[in-house]
Amino acid sequence: MAISLRFSLYFFLSILFFSISFAEIRFSEIRSDDRSIIPFDEFGFTHTGQLELNVSHISFSNPSPELDLSQVGFFLSTRDSWIHVLQQIQDLDITCALQSELVKNVYTFDKLKGSTSFNTLYSETDANQFTLVFGNCLPQLRISMDVRSAMYNLDGKSSSRDYLSAGKTVLPKIYFLFFLIYFSMASIWIYVLYKKRLTVYRIHFFMLAVLILKALNLLCEAEDKSYIKRTGSAHGWDVLFYIFSFLKGITLFTLIVLIGTGWSFLKPYLQDKEKKVLMIVIPLQIVANIAQVVIDESGPYAQDWITWKQIFLLVDVVCCCAVLFPIVWSIKNLREAARTDGKAAVNLMKLTLFRQYYIVVICYIYFTRVVVYALETITSYQYLWTSVVAGELATLAFYVFTGYRFRPEVHNPYFVIDDEEEEAAAEALKLEDEFEL
Ligand SMILES: *[C@@H]1O[C@H](CO)[C@@H](O)[C@H](O)[C@H]1NC(C)=O
Repeated sequence: MAISLRFSLYFFLSILFFSISFAEIRFSEIRSDDRSIIPFDEFGFTHTGQLELNVSHISFSNPSPELDLSQVGFFLSTRDSWIHVLQQIQDLDITCALQSELVKNVYTFDKLKGSTSFNTLYSETDANQFTLVFGNCLPQLRISMDVRSAMYNLDGKSSSRDYLSAGKTVLPKIYFLFFLIYFSMASIWIYVLYKKRLTVYRIHFFMLAVLILKALNLLCEAEDKSYIKRTGSAHGWDVLFYIFSFLKGITLFTLIVLIGTGWSFLKPYLQDKEKKVLMIVIPLQIVANIAQVVIDESGPYAQDWITWKQIFLLVDVVCCCAVLFPIVWSIKNLREAARTDGKAAVNLMKLTLFRQYYIVVICYIYFTRVVVYALETITSYQYLWTSVVAGELATLAFYVFTGYRFRPEVHNPYFVIDDEEEEAAAEALKLEDEFEL
């Protein structure tokens, strides 16, 4: 266990340092490739978009003078027009995507005239989301080349470059705003811990750690994104960001498990099966973070991107399901205790709390996984930031709920209850018999 954990950490760190050089300015090496279509990056242009393309070390597998190199080159295409281009090719209107009037030709290789490299600057004045694609319509021609592509929009008066895609350019501000919110929440929490220091449990310090890590993670993400926005490269801020999001991921899932088991405020120890859940969730989080790094840094058209995406989704789903078990076990124990114990009312109250927590965790997981993903898919490219805001708001709501319901309290509301609430809780228990969890 210890060895595999250390190995995973090394692996994780080496991927981090390996991947720093990749960012919004992308370098790709194409080696004797005969794919007829090679997609590169996607980017949301405004009316002042530019594409800088520097290609060097170009070589062909069978360099003969008869090659019609106008059939080989780079072009920009939107997703919608790409569908029409495929239709045109199917209808035999054209034989090569480069011939279609629906795509924007950036550079065709007949302009090379024997040279092995070229630099070009292409101005894109149609505001839309485009994908940079390399098309090779000569069958059996293998091409090698080094490609550096940079896409950016020029900002209003100052004409400074903005390397973030049109829908993402406000992200640094959004992340910074959320950082400020979490920073204030951490301050408030420290104040609460100080005021209620007699009823503070260890779990409350753990919550503080989770809050602080979340705040630091957002700060790094804001700085990372704003650095990319200005320079097109990440310059190490992404490493800090990945480290904090890794720690944040682990602590958040651990916190959900610990609260779910009632650790430190219901009982001081963890049972074996509850420890097992942690043993599963923590290594899986490491895998999820490695996958996340690869996904972020390589872009959607790299080889293995889909595989990593699938690994990430699978691991994430397993983690989300695993953290629910301790809550379910606690609910079951409390329900049994409530039936047999003299202190039924107290247990009923705790039971209600845990059941609420269970539902909130499910909502949180559902929202941040499914709804955010759906938003990302259906919103137009200019509004990509809305899915980030939605996800962060859901996370914020979850943090606030957790902090509020499990706050340190002298007269803990779930230990002191009045008759009305007791009746409500008993009612809930009766319902529970009808609908099993
Ligand atoms: C890439 O091409 C652009 C446009 O011609 C040029 O201004 C720039 O200096 C080139 N960059 C590199 C690294 O060669």
